[in-house]
Amino acid sequence: MSLKSFPYDELSSTQDEGFALIERGETPPFFVTADRQTKGRGRMQRTWHSESGRSLTMTLMIQMPAHSMPGLSAVVGLSILEVLENENLKLKWPNDLMLNDQKVGGILIESRSHGNLADIAIGIGLNLFSLEGADYKSLEQNVSALSVAESVLKYAKELEAKGFARSKSKYESKLWRLHEVVDFSVQGQVHKVRIMGIDEMGFLLTESGGKLVINLDGEILFE
Ligand code: BTN
Repeated sequence: MSLKSFPYDELSSTQDEGFALIERGETPPFFVTADRQTKGRGRMQRTWHSESGRSLTMTLMIQMPAHSMPGLSAVVGLSILEVLENENLKLKWPNDLMLNDQKVGGILIESRSHGNLADIAIGIGLNLFSLEGADYKSLEQNVSALSVAESVLKYAKELEAKGFARSKSKYESKLWRLHEVVDFSVQGQVHKVRIMGIDEMGFLLTESGGKLVINLDGEILFE
């Protein structure tokens, strides 16, 4: 059975509409798309800009046990790379899509728990279509909201059934700046660290001054 979709010309945010649909009785999984968002939001309270007709702006609503959520962020990134089929795309931890050092996509995961279960809004913004040249063409041919939603759902189900550990090496093969020294911002402080990989839960491993650190949050900075 095909995934149910709710396409809109304009919304404040596909995230809000996803939760509102659940409140109105819709049962996940389903996905919401919008050609325009008037209040698109990104991680860390940032505004998210997309361009009408030139971006993919969508939210996949799923339900999963809250304890399966670690690793979700990372597998969503992987699932989108699988659809886009472009070897040059990398994941800036946890899941920014980078093409030749330019951010071309972002993922925002928001959840509301009830008991052991969580309703999860997986918001995906791809700004691939404003890119010039060959990369843009190959990406454009391969992407549709339905194919992205189906791939994300498949990876989320695998995560729930089998855990994250088996995706670790696949994720690391796509990790942007692996083994390089980067500026890493945690709680307002910027540190120089070397990216070492991720752990069995999908958290970022960094090294500085001979000390290995597991990072539950934080952001790799880039110009
Ligand atoms: C980020 O990189 O900060 C995450 C960006 C996520 C943007 C998407 S666009 C669809 C969905 N609706 C929103 O308001 N945000 C997400």
